[in-house]
Amino acid sequence: MVQAVRGMRDVLPLEARRWRQIENTVHQIMQQFAYEEIHLPLLEFTELFARGVGEATDIVEKEMYTLADRDGDSLSLRPEGTASCVRALQENGLLYNQTQKVFYAGPMFRYEKPQKGRYRQFYQIGAEAFGYTGPDIDAELILLAAEFWRALGLEERVRLEVNTLGSYDARQAYRSALVDYLQPHAAELDDDSRRRLKTNPLRILDSKNAQTQALLATAPQLPEFIDDESQAHYAGLLALLDDLGISYTTNSNLVRGLDYYTHTVFEWITDDLGAQGAVCAGGRYNGLVERLGGRAMPAAGFAMGLDRVLLLHEVVHQNAVGSAVDIYVCHAGDELASEAQQLGHRLRRAIARRVDSSATCGNTHTVKVRVNMGGGNLKKQMKRADTSAATWAVLIGAEEMQSGVLTIKNLRDGQQRQLAEADFVEHVLLAKHINSD
Ligand code: HAM
Repeated sequence: MVQAVRGMRDVLPLEARRWRQIENTVHQIMQQFAYEEIHLPLLEFTELFARGVGEATDIVEKEMYTLADRDGDSLSLRPEGTASCVRALQENGLLYNQTQKVFYAGPMFRYEKPQKGRYRQFYQIGAEAFGYTGPDIDAELILLAAEFWRALGLEERVRLEVNTLGSYDARQAYRSALVDYLQPHAAELDDDSRRRLKTNPLRILDSKNAQTQALLATAPQLPEFIDDESQAHYAGLLALLDDLGISYTTNSNLVRGLDYYTHTVFEWITDDLGAQGAVCAGGRYNGLVERLGGRAMPAAGFAMGLDRVLLLHEVVHQNAVGSAVDIYVCHAGDELASEAQQLGHRLRRAIARRVDSSATCGNTHTVKVRVNMGGGNLKKQMKRADTSAATWAVLIGAEEMQSGVLTIKNLRDGQQRQLAEADFVEHVLLAKHINSD
């Protein structure tokens, strides 16, 4: 049997049900905030990420799935969505003299060392806003993410860290100062940090190595290099977060692994998933549009890692995944198989008509009707109904056909009763707490 590729995981039905709930919730909130959905390709020219994410980042240096297509072009599976998003909006003229707020969802690919919460194919939902200079949009993006946690019942399990990297110039000045300080101590640095001293020195701040951290304790500090304008932007953001009642901690070592950030960076972190604690991350990237060939334009955004949010949701809400089947339709005798199929479909339609159309996209408001397939005597069918974990088994036989009422068995409490089709629909709506007004 051929196995799945390492780091590429299957999301099986039980998990996929939880996934659907989470994704629906997130999509709904994106729409509440009036962000527009956008779909982006999985494959892009490698150059897009090299220029966008940065040549010296781990992602571009060693984590991309890169291939040559038949024309000899170098293509890469997208390791993230921001560069693609900029490319798509720019290429389609949607950044010209206008602002944009968009969101996207889909798989990203990074050749990382797989472990729980870290995969080579993982799923991100990202939001990006273009054309806004002030900290109000940074705050809105953070509020948007905070709203996910609230809606998913995870607000107690995540915390927010924020930092400012200042303007591009401030960051460059700090970079030089850090290199000047660390260069004479290069031999004492861990291997990764020594390499990063040449390629991406700010990332050394992220090192988990104790000796490197000890060296950093007396190194120049980023906040000393932040210019006044950037400070004002940062102070503006923190004040807005205070006004919105969003708690945060400031962390001047938060630098992020992608090169395009300026000013605000932030991460939502959970302590429930061990080392893979970052569930959502982002920041401002004012230079990226220009770097990719467009006109200078401020921008900010974030992406959450759905695989990690799913794991966290599983830890916090162990049983909250809804049902696979709600109603199981059985028939007494093969001659009633077609009747059963028609009845099942009438029930689906009658219930769907009564469900508020705005709620139908949420899993919780979809009543799932499964009709017995493949015949079998009634005992066998009832057994299947039980195995499906449905709440109700609906039964039609010769008697039911004649009287026009259905036999309903509640599989949870074993009670059986006779109900007309329309009354059964009411009963289900009531039991599922569906407001059918
Ligand atoms: P990132 O921090 O590289 O940022 O990824 C964002 C989130 O994706 C992480 O916080 C994490 O939850 C998830 N993630 C990343 N790598 C993996 C992995 N190997 N397995 C599972 N989950 C993972 C970005 O990608 C930026 N494009 C975010 C952004 C948007 N900044 C501005 N706009």
